[in-house]
Formats: sequence, structure tokens, C-alpha cells
Amino acid sequence: MTEVLKLDPARPQQEAIELAASIVRDGGLVAFPTETVYGLGADAMNENAVRKIFAAKGRPADNPCIVHVCGREMLDRVAGYVPGKAEHLIEKFWPGPLTLVLDRKVEVAAPVSAGLSTVAVRMPSDQIALELIRAASTPIAAPSANVSGSPSPTTAAHVLEDLGGRIDLILDGGATNIGIESTVLDVTSEPPIILRPGWVTQEMLSNTIGPIAHEASDAELQRSPGTRHRHYSPRARVILIEHGSPELIERVCRETLKEGAAGFIGHTPVAISNARFYSIRLSDRAEDYAYSIYAALRELDSKSARAIVVEGIDERGEGAAVMDRLRRAAAERIGNGET
Ligand code: TXA
Ligand code: MG
Repeated sequence: MTEVLKLDPARPQQEAIELAASIVRDGGLVAFPTETVYGLGADAMNENAVRKIFAAKGRPADNPCIVHVCGREMLDRVAGYVPGKAEHLIEKFWPGPLTLVLDRKVEVAAPVSAGLSTVAVRMPSDQIALELIRAASTPIAAPSANVSGSPSPTTAAHVLEDLGGRIDLILDGGATNIGIESTVLDVTSEPPIILRPGWVTQEMLSNTIGPIAHEASDAELQRSPGTRHRHYSPRARVILIEHGSPELIERVCRETLKEGAAGFIGHTPVAISNARFYSIRLSDRAEDYAYSIYAALRELDSKSARAIVVEGIDERGEGAAVMDRLRRAAAERIGNGET
């Protein structure tokens, strides 16, 4: 049985935090909100506990997890050398949605790092997350709390849908603020390299520490194995229209309707009156896409859409992180320069 406890995100009830912390200390699994998405947490120093994360999610063993800490002292329990640039970034962006890849200490349970000599660490800003880590007084390994490959969870209901019955407890703090995962920056290489774009943009990073390698080459992506696997995908086939006129978008939506129920997520109004067509309108702002995209994909799955047409947004700034997730979710891309 998976217990769900509803908490006040601003002032989480201490009994609930204590219960969750004791489950983590005893080697169990607790899902909790962060400012990005919900995480599935276990004691990062307990190998058996960490193995349970991989089993519950069906996560490939070669995909390492992010370790969540509640402060600088706890960081030193998991990371060896912390370069000066990392110190600057910690000063500026923690707590917040920036994950740093650092040298790993041997005390960290081996499966956390999936055989790598590094460990990815972040300090979340969510109050529930911070209080849980503090109460557990151990670093918490936590990938996103979804079944491997499916859209990340931004509500407790999403977690329950994917992992109900497989984990001990879900702390429900309502919908997450940002809605997509943290930026992953490898600071063991020079210049540091972004392995996964996120809410902390390349520009924000380079304003703080100078040059940042722009895009991970294939060889470098080997170092962030998670980026190789299928990701963020609903059951429905996702067709991403990176750039397209309203006419093109409507034509693609009508085409997909021939296969069965179909969905559209985008900022352009599409007027198709068909009982099997479901449209979710967003503004064209990256904030709105990030906040809503995973929930929208899940909602269209629940309507049994066979295909979901998603309209892209401007890739500048935070839009880069949104477009990264949409491209990984997509089976097909239209209008990416060729058309
Ligand atoms: O916002 C987030 O980062 C959320 C919340 C729960 O904190 N977590 C999250 O975890 O998105 P997950 O497991 O879904 O994604 C972790 C990413 C993967 O792409 C993984 O390959 C990469 O971080 N990663 C973890 N450890 C790494 C390491 N030692 N070296 C390189 N990449 C690593
Ligand atoms: Mg994930």
C-alpha cells in the first residue's frame, strides 16, 4: 500500500515529515515534491534502498540518480573535490534547479552513480523537500517519480498513477512550481558542460562563471547516460511542430484524427469540431509550457488519444529546456528547418 499525505507546502506538518524521514532512514521509498518535479527518494548511502528506486521505476541500471542535499555540509558527505566555479554556482543558485556533477565519494551507494566516478547533486528550494532531507539527516537519491520513460510527475496524483502500490509514501505538496527538471551541469570538465538544459539557462551560468560548453557531443552524452534513453513519452505518439503556420498545424491535426482520437497542445488556436479531438491551449511563454506540458500529455493519454500534436516555442532562454523535453518526447518532428 502506498500512503498519501497532503501537506501545506509553506508549513509542512512535522509529524508527516518525521514519518517520511523515518521511512527513508529505514531504507524505504518516499515520493516528495521539489520545485521542478516530484522525486522518488531513498537514502543515498544505502545500496539496498537505492536499488528499490530502480526496481519501482523500471529504471535502467546505467542511468544515475541525482542526490538531494539540504546544505553545504551535506554536499561534502557525497562529493570529493568541489572546484571554485562550483562554489560560485552554489552561492548563486542553491537552493534551486541546478544540479552539479562532481567527484563522488565512495560512501555514496554505488548504484546512485551507475558505475561512474562522479555524483550529481542539487539542493532543492522546495520547503517540503528541504525539511525531509534535514529530518532524515542523510542525502536523498531521487530521480523523477514516474515510471521510466513516461512524462515526469508534477502532482502527487501523477506519482500515484505511475507508482501506486510500489512505494511506501507520497508527500503531496500540490503542483510543482516549475514543472520541468533541473539543469544538469558537469563541473568536472573545463569548460563546464550542460548535460541537460533546465530552468537555470546557459546565459545565467556563463554570467556567473564564464564560458560554458554549449551542447554535449555524443561522447560527452555518454557521461550523462540518462539522456540516451526514451524519455518523457506518453502512450500516444507525439508529433512536434517546431515551426508551422496555423494552416500547417490544422492540417497535421486533421491527418492524425484519421488514426483515432487525437490531441493538440499549443498556443495557436485550432478550430476543429470533432468529438475525438482534444485541444489544450497554452500561452507561448516558456513558463506556461514548463508548468503544464507533462500534465497535458498525461491528460491526453487519459482520453486515449492515439497521437498528440505539440506546437513548439521560441528556443531562447528557458525555452531551450522546454524544447529539449519536447524533442525527446517526440516520435516525429516537423518544421525543424527542413520545411
Ligand atoms: O529536477 C530534477 O532534477 C528532478 C528532481 C526530482 O530533483 N530529478 C530528475 O532526476 O530529473 P532524473 O533521474 O529523472 O534525471 C537525472 C539526470 C539524468 O539525465 C541522469 O543521467 C543525470 O541526471 N545524471 C545523474 N547522475 C549523473 C552523473 N553522475 N553524471 C552525469 N549525469 C548524471
Ligand atoms: Mg526523469
